[in-house]
Amino acid sequence: MILGIETSCDEIAAAVIDNTYKVQKNIIFTSSDLAIKTGGVVPEIAARDAGKKITTVLQKATENLNWNDIDAIAVTNGPGLVGSLLTGIEAAKTLAFLKNKPLIPVYHIYGHMCANLLDREENLPLNYPVLVLTVSGGHNDIYLWKSPLEREKIGQTIDDAAGECFDKCARMLGLPYPGGPHLSKCAESGNAKIFDFPRPMIHKKNNNFSFSGLKTSVLYTIRDLGGIENISKTQKSDISAGIQTAICETLLTKFYRAAKKYNVKEVHLTGGVSANTQLREEFLDLAKKQRYISRVPSKIIYSTDNAAMIAAAGKMIWDNTLKKDFPFEDVKVSF
Ligand code: KG4
Ligand code: ZN
Repeated sequence: MILGIETSCDEIAAAVIDNTYKVQKNIIFTSSDLAIKTGGVVPEIAARDAGKKITTVLQKATENLNWNDIDAIAVTNGPGLVGSLLTGIEAAKTLAFLKNKPLIPVYHIYGHMCANLLDREENLPLNYPVLVLTVSGGHNDIYLWKSPLEREKIGQTIDDAAGECFDKCARMLGLPYPGGPHLSKCAESGNAKIFDFPRPMIHKKNNNFSFSGLKTSVLYTIRDLGGIENISKTQKSDISAGIQTAICETLLTKFYRAAKKYNVKEVHLTGGVSANTQLREEFLDLAKKQRYISRVPSKIIYSTDNAAMIAAAGKMIWDNTLKKDFPFEDVKVSF
Protein backbone atom coordinates (compact mmCIF):
# COMPACT_ATOMS: atom_id res chain seq x y z
CA MET A 1 0.00 0.00 0.00
CA ILE A 2 1.07 3.57 -0.63
CA LEU A 3 0.27 6.76 1.28
CA GLY A 4 0.04 9.79 -1.04
CA ILE A 5 0.23 13.49 -0.12
CA GLU A 6 -0.75 16.38 -2.42
CA THR A 7 -0.49 20.11 -1.61
CA SER A 8 0.48 21.75 -4.92
CA CYS A 9 -2.30 24.36 -5.05
CA ASP A 10 -5.36 24.95 -2.87
CA GLU A 11 -6.16 21.31 -2.05
CA ILE A 12 -4.53 19.76 1.02
CA ALA A 13 -4.92 16.03 0.54
CA ALA A 14 -3.74 12.62 1.75
CA ALA A 15 -4.85 9.18 0.56
CA VAL A 16 -4.07 5.49 0.88
CA ILE A 17 -4.34 3.03 -2.01
CA ASP A 18 -3.91 -0.75 -1.98
CA ASN A 19 -1.93 -3.01 -4.29
CA THR A 20 -4.70 -3.03 -6.95
CA TYR A 21 -4.98 0.78 -7.07
CA LYS A 22 -8.22 0.69 -5.04
CA VAL A 23 -8.61 3.76 -2.89
CA GLN A 24 -8.84 2.92 0.84
CA LYS A 25 -8.80 6.48 2.20
CA ASN A 26 -9.15 9.75 0.32
CA ILE A 27 -9.06 12.90 2.43
CA ILE A 28 -9.28 16.27 0.65
CA PHE A 29 -9.41 19.60 2.47
CA THR A 30 -9.51 22.76 0.41
CA SER A 31 -8.67 26.44 0.78
CA SER A 32 -11.21 27.32 -1.91
CA ASP A 33 -13.40 29.13 0.66
CA LEU A 34 -10.52 31.63 0.99
CA ALA A 35 -10.02 31.76 -2.79
CA ILE A 36 -13.75 32.51 -3.26
CA LYS A 37 -13.28 35.67 -1.15
CA THR A 38 -10.26 36.81 -3.17
CA GLY A 39 -11.63 35.67 -6.57
CA GLY A 40 -8.70 33.29 -7.08
CA VAL A 41 -5.84 31.54 -5.29
CA VAL A 42 -3.42 33.85 -3.43
CA PRO A 43 -0.20 31.78 -2.98
CA GLU A 44 0.72 33.18 0.46
CA ILE A 45 -2.80 32.62 1.83
CA ALA A 46 -3.02 29.10 0.35
CA ALA A 47 0.37 28.15 1.87
CA ARG A 48 -0.62 29.34 5.34
CA ASP A 49 -3.87 27.42 5.10
CA ALA A 50 -2.02 24.27 3.99
CA GLY A 51 0.17 24.62 7.10
CA LYS A 52 -2.96 24.84 9.25
CA LYS A 53 -4.71 21.82 7.74
CA ILE A 54 -1.98 19.32 6.86
CA THR A 55 -1.79 17.64 10.29
CA THR A 56 -5.55 16.97 10.47
CA VAL A 57 -5.55 15.67 6.90
CA LEU A 58 -2.72 13.25 7.69
CA GLN A 59 -4.35 12.16 10.94
CA LYS A 60 -7.60 11.36 9.14
CA ALA A 61 -5.87 9.54 6.28
CA THR A 62 -3.83 7.33 8.63
CA GLU A 63 -6.57 6.59 11.21
CA ASN A 64 -6.67 2.82 11.96
CA LEU A 65 -3.81 2.30 9.52
CA ASN A 66 -1.42 -0.58 10.10
CA TRP A 67 1.87 1.07 9.22
CA ASN A 68 3.39 -2.34 8.43
CA ASP A 69 1.14 -2.42 5.34
CA ILE A 70 2.59 0.82 3.95
CA ASP A 71 5.44 0.22 1.50
CA ALA A 72 6.21 3.87 0.81
CA ILE A 73 5.00 7.47 1.03
CA ALA A 74 4.59 9.51 -2.18
CA VAL A 75 4.47 13.30 -2.22
CA THR A 76 3.97 15.92 -4.95
CA ASN A 77 7.17 17.90 -5.47
CA GLY A 78 5.99 20.20 -8.29
CA PRO A 79 4.89 22.02 -10.29
CA GLY A 80 2.73 24.22 -8.08
CA LEU A 81 2.84 26.96 -5.46
CA VAL A 82 6.18 26.83 -3.64
CA GLY A 83 4.85 27.52 -0.13
CA SER A 84 2.09 24.93 -0.41
CA LEU A 85 4.42 22.33 -1.93
CA LEU A 86 6.95 22.86 0.88
CA THR A 87 4.25 22.22 3.49
CA GLY A 88 3.42 18.83 1.97
CA ILE A 89 7.04 17.89 1.37
CA GLU A 90 8.19 18.71 4.91
CA ALA A 91 5.23 16.88 6.46
CA ALA A 92 5.95 13.86 4.24
CA LYS A 93 9.64 13.89 5.14
CA THR A 94 8.89 13.99 8.86
CA LEU A 95 6.41 11.14 8.59
CA ALA A 96 8.72 9.04 6.40
CA PHE A 97 11.57 9.59 8.86
CA LEU A 98 9.48 8.69 11.92
CA LYS A 99 7.90 5.62 10.32
CA ASN A 100 11.07 4.59 8.51
CA LYS A 101 9.46 4.53 5.05
CA PRO A 102 10.91 5.37 1.63
CA LEU A 103 9.72 8.74 0.30
CA ILE A 104 8.95 9.01 -3.44
CA PRO A 105 8.75 12.46 -5.10
CA VAL A 106 5.97 12.69 -7.71
CA TYR A 107 5.59 15.12 -10.61
CA HIS A 108 2.04 16.47 -10.29
CA ILE A 109 1.10 15.91 -13.94
CA TYR A 110 2.35 12.31 -13.82
CA GLY A 111 0.00 12.01 -10.82
CA HIS A 112 -2.90 13.15 -13.02
CA MET A 113 -1.89 10.53 -15.59
CA CYS A 114 -1.95 7.79 -12.94
CA ALA A 115 -5.42 8.94 -11.75
CA ASN A 116 -6.72 6.79 -14.61
CA LEU A 117 -5.59 3.63 -12.77
CA LEU A 118 -7.68 4.30 -9.65
CA ASP A 119 -10.73 2.26 -8.67
CA ARG A 120 -11.14 0.30 -11.89
CA GLU A 121 -13.23 -2.85 -11.86
CA GLU A 122 -10.49 -4.53 -13.83
CA ASN A 123 -7.10 -2.88 -14.03
CA LEU A 124 -6.05 -4.19 -17.40
CA PRO A 125 -2.47 -3.49 -18.48
CA LEU A 126 -2.14 -0.26 -20.44
CA ASN A 127 -1.42 -0.55 -24.18
CA TYR A 128 1.74 1.53 -24.40
CA PRO A 129 2.29 3.96 -25.95
CA VAL A 130 -0.83 5.65 -24.58
CA LEU A 131 -1.68 9.18 -25.70
CA VAL A 132 -2.81 11.34 -22.75
CA LEU A 133 -4.56 14.71 -22.78
CA THR A 134 -3.83 16.37 -19.42
CA VAL A 135 -5.94 19.49 -18.94
CA SER A 136 -6.02 21.56 -15.76
CA GLY A 137 -5.86 25.12 -14.54
CA GLY A 138 -2.07 25.20 -14.66
CA HIS A 139 -1.24 22.88 -17.56
CA ASN A 140 -2.58 21.74 -20.89
CA ASP A 141 -0.42 19.05 -22.44
CA ILE A 142 -0.40 16.00 -24.66
CA TYR A 143 1.88 13.19 -23.44
CA LEU A 144 3.01 10.09 -25.20
CA TRP A 145 3.17 7.60 -22.31
CA LYS A 146 5.71 5.10 -23.64
CA SER A 147 6.19 2.75 -20.68
CA PRO A 148 5.30 2.95 -16.95
CA LEU A 149 8.05 5.47 -16.17
CA GLU A 150 8.74 6.96 -19.59
CA ARG A 151 6.73 9.83 -21.01
CA GLU A 152 7.31 12.43 -23.71
CA LYS A 153 5.48 15.74 -23.90
CA ILE A 154 4.47 16.15 -27.55
CA GLY A 155 2.20 19.20 -27.19
CA GLN A 156 1.37 22.01 -24.79
CA THR A 157 -0.31 25.38 -24.57
CA ILE A 158 1.73 28.35 -25.70
CA ASP A 159 -0.21 30.67 -23.34
CA ASP A 160 -3.25 29.85 -21.16
CA ALA A 161 -4.35 26.35 -20.16
CA ALA A 162 -7.96 25.32 -20.90
CA GLY A 163 -8.86 25.41 -17.18
CA GLU A 164 -7.37 28.89 -16.90
CA CYS A 165 -9.46 29.96 -19.90
CA PHE A 166 -12.61 28.51 -18.27
CA ASP A 167 -11.76 30.35 -15.03
CA LYS A 168 -10.96 33.72 -16.65
CA CYS A 169 -14.02 33.67 -18.93
CA ALA A 170 -16.19 32.73 -15.94
CA ARG A 171 -14.83 35.72 -14.06
CA MET A 172 -15.65 38.02 -17.01
CA LEU A 173 -19.20 36.64 -16.90
CA GLY A 174 -19.45 37.45 -13.20
CA LEU A 175 -19.52 33.80 -12.16
CA PRO A 176 -17.96 32.80 -8.82
CA TYR A 177 -14.65 30.97 -8.22
CA PRO A 178 -13.82 28.26 -9.26
CA GLY A 179 -14.99 29.31 -12.69
CA GLY A 180 -14.81 26.03 -14.64
CA PRO A 181 -17.63 24.15 -12.89
CA HIS A 182 -19.80 27.30 -12.65
CA LEU A 183 -19.41 28.13 -16.34
CA SER A 184 -20.20 24.53 -17.19
CA LYS A 185 -23.40 24.69 -15.07
CA CYS A 186 -24.39 27.98 -16.74
CA ALA A 187 -23.80 26.40 -20.18
CA GLU A 188 -26.32 23.63 -19.51
CA SER A 189 -29.29 25.76 -20.57
CA GLY A 190 -27.39 27.61 -23.31
CA ASN A 191 -27.26 27.32 -27.09
CA ALA A 192 -23.65 26.90 -28.28
CA LYS A 193 -24.53 28.07 -31.80
CA ILE A 194 -25.44 31.67 -30.91
CA PHE A 195 -21.90 32.89 -30.23
CA ASP A 196 -19.23 31.50 -32.50
CA PHE A 197 -15.94 31.83 -30.62
CA PRO A 198 -12.56 31.12 -32.26
CA ARG A 199 -10.96 27.66 -32.15
CA PRO A 200 -7.35 28.89 -31.84
CA MET A 201 -4.66 27.01 -33.76
CA ILE A 202 -7.09 24.26 -34.72
CA HIS A 203 -5.76 24.11 -38.30
CA LYS A 204 -2.07 24.25 -37.31
CA LYS A 205 -0.39 20.89 -37.87
CA ASN A 206 1.56 20.95 -34.57
CA ASN A 207 0.20 19.55 -31.27
CA ASN A 208 0.21 22.87 -29.39
CA PHE A 209 -2.71 24.89 -28.05
CA SER A 210 -3.47 28.55 -27.42
CA PHE A 211 -6.46 29.87 -25.49
CA SER A 212 -5.65 33.54 -24.99
CA GLY A 213 -7.34 34.57 -28.29
CA LEU A 214 -10.57 32.87 -27.26
CA LYS A 215 -10.46 34.74 -23.95
CA THR A 216 -10.00 38.07 -25.76
CA SER A 217 -12.88 37.29 -28.10
CA VAL A 218 -15.14 36.66 -25.07
CA LEU A 219 -14.02 40.00 -23.60
CA TYR A 220 -14.98 41.87 -26.82
CA THR A 221 -18.29 40.00 -27.12
CA ILE A 222 -19.28 41.07 -23.60
CA ARG A 223 -18.16 44.64 -24.33
CA ASP A 224 -20.14 44.77 -27.62
CA LEU A 225 -23.27 43.60 -25.80
CA GLY A 226 -22.98 46.63 -23.52
CA GLY A 227 -21.00 45.12 -20.63
CA ILE A 228 -21.77 42.37 -18.14
CA GLU A 229 -24.56 44.38 -16.42
CA ASN A 230 -26.53 44.51 -19.69
CA ILE A 231 -26.34 40.81 -20.50
CA SER A 232 -29.45 38.68 -19.96
CA LYS A 233 -29.41 35.31 -18.20
CA THR A 234 -30.07 33.60 -21.54
CA GLN A 235 -27.17 35.42 -23.20
CA LYS A 236 -24.90 34.42 -20.33
CA SER A 237 -25.85 30.78 -20.81
CA ASP A 238 -25.38 31.02 -24.58
CA ILE A 239 -21.95 32.64 -24.18
CA SER A 240 -20.98 29.92 -21.65
CA ALA A 241 -22.11 27.18 -24.00
CA GLY A 242 -20.19 28.82 -26.87
CA ILE A 243 -17.00 28.98 -24.78
CA GLN A 244 -17.29 25.39 -23.58
CA THR A 245 -17.90 24.07 -27.08
CA ALA A 246 -14.98 26.06 -28.54
CA ILE A 247 -12.64 24.68 -25.83
CA CYS A 248 -13.83 21.08 -26.24
CA GLU A 249 -13.65 21.18 -30.05
CA THR A 250 -10.15 22.68 -30.03
CA LEU A 251 -8.79 20.20 -27.47
CA LEU A 252 -10.34 17.14 -29.08
CA THR A 253 -9.61 17.99 -32.73
CA LYS A 254 -5.92 18.48 -32.01
CA PHE A 255 -5.70 15.51 -29.64
CA TYR A 256 -7.29 12.97 -32.01
CA ARG A 257 -5.20 14.26 -34.90
CA ALA A 258 -2.12 13.51 -32.78
CA ALA A 259 -3.52 10.08 -31.82
CA LYS A 260 -3.73 9.21 -35.52
CA LYS A 261 -0.28 10.58 -36.24
CA TYR A 262 1.34 8.59 -33.39
CA ASN A 263 -0.65 5.47 -34.28
CA VAL A 264 -1.61 4.68 -30.66
CA LYS A 265 -4.18 2.11 -29.55
CA GLU A 266 -5.16 3.71 -26.25
CA VAL A 267 -6.14 7.28 -25.30
CA HIS A 268 -6.64 8.89 -21.86
CA LEU A 269 -8.14 12.16 -20.64
CA THR A 270 -7.20 13.54 -17.22
CA GLY A 271 -6.71 16.70 -15.08
CA GLY A 272 -9.22 19.07 -13.51
CA VAL A 273 -10.95 19.95 -16.79
CA SER A 274 -11.70 16.24 -17.37
CA ALA A 275 -14.41 16.81 -14.74
CA ASN A 276 -16.29 18.68 -17.49
CA THR A 277 -19.20 16.52 -18.66
CA GLN A 278 -19.18 17.72 -22.28
CA LEU A 279 -15.44 17.12 -22.63
CA ARG A 280 -15.61 13.63 -21.02
CA GLU A 281 -18.57 12.56 -23.15
CA GLU A 282 -17.15 13.85 -26.43
CA PHE A 283 -13.72 12.37 -25.62
CA LEU A 284 -15.24 8.91 -25.02
CA ASP A 285 -17.55 9.20 -28.00
CA LEU A 286 -14.72 10.03 -30.42
CA ALA A 287 -12.59 7.21 -28.97
CA LYS A 288 -15.40 4.75 -29.59
CA LYS A 289 -16.00 5.98 -33.14
CA GLN A 290 -12.30 5.76 -33.96
CA ARG A 291 -11.88 2.42 -32.13
CA TYR A 292 -9.42 3.48 -29.46
CA ILE A 293 -9.32 1.92 -26.00
CA SER A 294 -10.07 4.85 -23.71
CA ARG A 295 -9.98 5.97 -20.09
CA VAL A 296 -11.19 8.98 -18.17
CA PRO A 297 -10.95 9.11 -14.35
CA SER A 298 -13.42 6.58 -12.85
CA LYS A 299 -14.80 9.24 -10.48
CA ILE A 300 -14.99 13.02 -10.86
CA ILE A 301 -12.99 13.45 -7.62
CA TYR A 302 -10.02 11.79 -9.35
CA SER A 303 -10.10 14.44 -12.13
CA THR A 304 -9.40 17.42 -9.90
CA ASP A 305 -6.42 17.56 -7.52
CA ASN A 306 -6.36 14.69 -5.02
CA ALA A 307 -3.78 12.56 -3.22
CA ALA A 308 -4.99 9.14 -4.43
CA MET A 309 -3.53 9.95 -7.85
CA ILE A 310 -0.19 10.81 -6.20
CA ALA A 311 -0.29 7.48 -4.35
CA ALA A 312 -1.04 5.77 -7.72
CA ALA A 313 1.97 7.46 -9.31
CA GLY A 314 4.05 6.44 -6.27
CA LYS A 315 2.94 2.85 -6.76
CA MET A 316 3.84 2.98 -10.47
CA ILE A 317 7.31 4.22 -9.56
CA TRP A 318 7.68 1.73 -6.68
CA ASP A 319 6.60 -1.28 -8.76
CA ASN A 320 8.81 -0.35 -11.71
CA THR A 321 12.01 0.59 -9.86
CA LEU A 322 14.38 -2.27 -9.10
CA LYS A 323 16.67 -0.49 -6.67
CA LYS A 324 14.29 0.88 -4.05
CA ASP A 325 16.58 3.69 -3.05
CA PHE A 326 14.86 7.06 -2.64
CA PRO A 327 17.21 9.49 -0.81
CA PHE A 328 15.46 12.19 1.23
CA GLU A 329 17.77 14.81 -0.34
CA ASP A 330 16.16 14.16 -3.75
CA VAL A 331 12.73 15.15 -2.44
CA LYS A 332 12.64 18.89 -3.04
CA VAL A 333 10.44 21.38 -4.84
CA SER A 334 11.06 21.13 -8.58
CA PHE A 335 9.34 22.44 -11.71
O1 KG4 B 1 -6.15 19.61 -11.81
P1 KG4 B 1 -6.77 20.75 -11.09
O2 KG4 B 1 -7.66 20.44 -9.92
O3 KG4 B 1 -5.67 21.77 -10.60
C1 KG4 B 1 -4.52 22.05 -11.38
O4 KG4 B 1 -3.60 21.20 -11.42
O5 KG4 B 1 -4.56 23.12 -12.04
O6 KG4 B 1 -7.60 21.60 -12.17
C2 KG4 B 1 -8.32 22.73 -11.80
C3 KG4 B 1 -8.97 23.32 -13.05
C4 KG4 B 1 -9.59 24.69 -12.78
O7 KG4 B 1 -9.21 25.57 -13.82
C5 KG4 B 1 -11.08 24.38 -12.81
O8 KG4 B 1 -11.88 25.48 -13.21
C6 KG4 B 1 -11.13 23.26 -13.83
O9 KG4 B 1 -10.01 22.47 -13.52
N1 KG4 B 1 -12.38 22.49 -13.72
C7 KG4 B 1 -13.35 22.50 -14.66
C8 KG4 B 1 -14.41 21.71 -14.14
N2 KG4 B 1 -14.05 21.26 -12.90
C9 KG4 B 1 -12.80 21.75 -12.67
N3 KG4 B 1 -13.41 23.09 -15.85
C10 KG4 B 1 -14.52 22.90 -16.58
N4 KG4 B 1 -15.58 22.18 -16.17
C11 KG4 B 1 -15.57 21.56 -14.97
N5 KG4 B 1 -16.63 20.84 -14.57
ZN1 ZN C 1 -3.71 19.32 -10.97
